[in-house]
Amino acid sequence: MRLRSSSSFGIPLFLSFFLLISTSTSHGLTANTSSLIRKTCKKCAQTDPNLSYNFCVTSLQAAPNSHCANNLRQLGRISIKLLGRNLTNSRSYIKELLTKNKRMEPFVRSCLQDCLDLYSDAILTGRQAIQDYKAKRYDDSNIDVSSIMDAATTCEDGFREKEGVVSPLTKRNNDTFQLSAISLSIINMIRFNLVVSDLGE
Ligand SMILES: *[C@@H]1O[C@H](CO)[C@@H](O)[C@H](O)[C@H]1NC(C)=O
Ligand SMILES: *[C@@H]1O[C@H](CO)[C@@H](O)[C@H](O)[C@H]1NC(C)=O
Ligand SMILES: *[C@@H]1O[C@H](CO)[C@@H](O)[C@H](O)[C@H]1NC(C)=O
Ligand SMILES: *[C@@H]1O[C@H](CO)[C@@H](O)[C@H](O)[C@H]1NC(C)=O
Repeated sequence: MRLRSSSSFGIPLFLSFFLLISTSTSHGLTANTSSLIRKTCKKCAQTDPNLSYNFCVTSLQAAPNSHCANNLRQLGRISIKLLGRNLTNSRSYIKELLTKNKRMEPFVRSCLQDCLDLYSDAILTGRQAIQDYKAKRYDDSNIDVSSIMDAATTCEDGFREKEGVVSPLTKRNNDTFQLSAISLSIINMIRFNLVVSDLGE
């Protein structure tokens, strides 16, 4: 009797200890981070049809420190930071376009000026999003990132108001849109308490 009860509890306990150790090795963490990214991106792409799964995996895998993320919450922080860096780069690019091309069509110049303002605000909002996320104010963080996403759409739509004008920012606005969508999905998963084991394979 005694022996049976000790073996039925003892072995699983030993096994789970062993599994804990084996997933803590650097190899285990790397393998499971990449599986965390894939699962998360799969879920993101399912909930948002405008989000590309490949873009999601590629961006998150290339993000600094993403190989250290071992849970969804850390991955979320990394995704918002990635979005923030992207905003800063895009803002510099818009500024450069405005200063380099002196003889730009006035309509395009005014669109770019609007986009510069939108991206400048978005950078501040991105900082707020990180603060809110860190403080677990997920509803606020959701609103912050949604407004960054809107900024990208508003910037892109500006160029469409005149026929024949091609937006020089389509790719960057789309990147902002996609990165915002990734962050939003992760924030919402955490907000609604979805754990990674629920994500399925
Ligand atoms: C990482 O997790 C996946 C499933 O999520 C599992 O198949 C794999 O064996 C794990 N890798 C390691 C090294 O533990
Ligand atoms: C997807 O994109 C289309 C066109 O930009 C937009 O109308 C729609 O609301 C978007 N859907 C989601 C879930 O964001
Ligand atoms: C924005 O992020 C995307 C995805 O990580 C990347 O491909 C792109 O080069 C970045 N753009 C800027 C301007 O940083
Ligand atoms: C936005 O980027 C995604 C991922 O790279 C791509 O699949 C999609 O076609 C792009 N959309 C537009 C409108 O450029």
